[in-house]
Amino acid sequence: MATIKNKVTGLLCLLIILFVARTEAQTSDAKMNAFISGLMQKMTLEEKIGQLNLPSAGEFTTGTATNSDIGKNVKEGNVGGLFNIKGVEKIRAIQKVAMENSRLKIPMLFGMDVIHGYETTFPIPLGLSCTWNMKAIEQSARIAAVEASADGICWTFSPMVDIARDPRWGRVSEGNGEDPYLGSQIAKAMVKGYQGNYSSNTNIMACVKHFALYGAAEAGRDYNTVDMSHLRMYNDYFPPYKAAVDAGAGSVMASFNVVDGIPATGNRWLLTDVLRKQWGFKGFVVTDYTGINEMTAHGMGDLQTVSALALKAGVDMDMVGEGFLKTLKKSLDEKKITLAEINAACKNVLEAKYKLGLFTNPYKYCNTQRAKTEIFTPEHRSVARQVAAESFVLLKNEQQILPLKKSGKIALIGPLADAANNMAGTWSVATVQDSSVSVLAGLKEALGNKGTVSYAKGCNLDADAAFEDRATMFGKTLNRDKRSAEEMKNEALRIANESDVIVAAMGESAEMSGESASRTDLNIPQIQQELLKTLLKTGKPVVLVLFTGRPLTLSWENKNVPAILNVWFGGSEAGAAIADVLFGAVNPSGKLTMTFPQNVGQIPLYYAHLSTGRPLEEGKWFQKFRSNYLDVSNDPVYPFGYGLSYSNFSYGDLKLSATSLKGAQSLKASIAITNTSKMDGQETVQLYIRDKVASISRPVKELKGFQKLLIKAGETKTATFTITSDDLKFYNSALNYDWEPGAFDIMIGSNSRDVKTATVSWAK
Ligand code: BGC
Repeated sequence: MATIKNKVTGLLCLLIILFVARTEAQTSDAKMNAFISGLMQKMTLEEKIGQLNLPSAGEFTTGTATNSDIGKNVKEGNVGGLFNIKGVEKIRAIQKVAMENSRLKIPMLFGMDVIHGYETTFPIPLGLSCTWNMKAIEQSARIAAVEASADGICWTFSPMVDIARDPRWGRVSEGNGEDPYLGSQIAKAMVKGYQGNYSSNTNIMACVKHFALYGAAEAGRDYNTVDMSHLRMYNDYFPPYKAAVDAGAGSVMASFNVVDGIPATGNRWLLTDVLRKQWGFKGFVVTDYTGINEMTAHGMGDLQTVSALALKAGVDMDMVGEGFLKTLKKSLDEKKITLAEINAACKNVLEAKYKLGLFTNPYKYCNTQRAKTEIFTPEHRSVARQVAAESFVLLKNEQQILPLKKSGKIALIGPLADAANNMAGTWSVATVQDSSVSVLAGLKEALGNKGTVSYAKGCNLDADAAFEDRATMFGKTLNRDKRSAEEMKNEALRIANESDVIVAAMGESAEMSGESASRTDLNIPQIQQELLKTLLKTGKPVVLVLFTGRPLTLSWENKNVPAILNVWFGGSEAGAAIADVLFGAVNPSGKLTMTFPQNVGQIPLYYAHLSTGRPLEEGKWFQKFRSNYLDVSNDPVYPFGYGLSYSNFSYGDLKLSATSLKGAQSLKASIAITNTSKMDGQETVQLYIRDKVASISRPVKELKGFQKLLIKAGETKTATFTITSDDLKFYNSALNYDWEPGAFDIMIGSNSRDVKTATVSWAK
């Protein structure tokens, strides 16, 4: 009786809390609406259009605030915000112009690509995703927000949540890999980390991008055409954007590509029907750079036409291109757009400023004292070091070469070994060049006076100097060595022969991935591979510390190199974190979030594929008239979810609480994992489900849950997953989101390939 009473009282309390919260939200919405409509009544048409304009601040960096072109535009009310500006003093000066010299004193937004940290740089997003640690990912976004907001920034163009299944596309480095479920969890964590509930001056607005489908560019060539069924959009590519919107992301960036033949920037179905009507998005939409102007090249008409198209589609803010600024008034006069459409966009932008608290305090993010004390702090750097170590994926460790002993002689060889400026990786605009820890510095620091490390570059990044120039832009030069290849190799061989172990720091440079960095060949550049072969011939143990912003084709390396640690680009503390893992202070626990193919011909290769009508039998390579290749098996080199540890984990039997379920019942699936080694370690246990019979063909497996467990040496832990019919839902041909009764494979394991399977039936 007492329990029923308690439950009823609990329920009542909950209802009252919900009611109060709703009423408070309604009151604050009403307040915001009243304020903004009051302000908009005072605004001229030009001032409204001005709010929709987001220039890059490049020019201001060379002039004084009031005299610069930007300053003049701010005074005249032609600018809603700025980006590409770093430094709280500069930002404060521009905000001052808006607050003191413009007619209506509307504060400005200050945006930046704060993608994986601010000055304290975290691993590139693809690396971060390999931590499978949502708390760490949220914390990285939190620290980025604290630092950026201390330096005047209130808006970041992140998270980038484009699902990507083609590693030729350089921007896979900026996303979270191939999986919609994992991508959605990360999208949520990032938005929460940046924005919180805007309650303090350390919360900045998130911008989820690039909406939508940017990661599905044909042939992996950046900015290329995308063509995709609605089923695939809704089931595989939309979920992370939607998760970010559900988490309250304040803004969305339209992508460069076409969606259903219409550029996303001018696609009303996408920006209004899906985003606002179906998902209930309440923030504002910004273009990606000159996305409006680029619609002319897409073949959609002149600047006036495409600007009107973008506004009508649901774009609120025009980045860089000034299409809105230059043409909306004319389009209004010619009745090509309506005042209501301009008002709606203006309201969305002003609301963002209101939510950020800029109308109450325009200098909320301009506290110069904070800039001095909260950026690149020892505390932030120590978190960056832990997170970096957690992002590394141990791909191979034959005969337990790793961890290394500190007492020996290490030969550190390779073009990435002493390259502090490349450690932060792509899209790290706020990072101070050379402030990151190189591998050489990290190893030296860790060794102290115990062992020795000698260094040789061994070879340049690539034999082709012109390629190297393209791959080492934005101050990330690798100082091309003028010596002959022979001379460099001989120097490397000399120190290699004198060593106990060779650490080869090789792979891609930071700018070999990222925007406009697509590749058709995903091998380690040939000159580096040749050096690796030479080093292997010395007979010394070789550890490949692999730098990359994407999955590479590592068939040869996997066969021939005894130990491979994939370190992506680890950020400010990369070198220190690499030393932590190489010497065993940290046990690696990263797991891949993108499949590593055998060769480029297999792409796109991803674990959650459909079966086809002629699937290859498991464990087989070639069967005539089956879906496969003559020259390689269908297998990847490393599957999604894969990653080793210095510990060994053995999985017990998969146990289910029931094998036949109905409706809202839930299923418990559990498995015992034993750490059979002498070292404590973390294991990410993964749950996959296959819907065996449905009204549409469903993937052979889909990630539906994961748990990262710390399992002590010799200890056994049980991972239990609770599965409900919600986990079985998908979009069917009518785009209804529901589940269908039938048989389901429940799979749990260490990666997407190595799983234990049991089947259940689930009735409606
Ligand atoms: C990129 C965006 C970025 C924007 C602003 C574009 O080229 O595609 O991701 O946010 O530039 O820098």
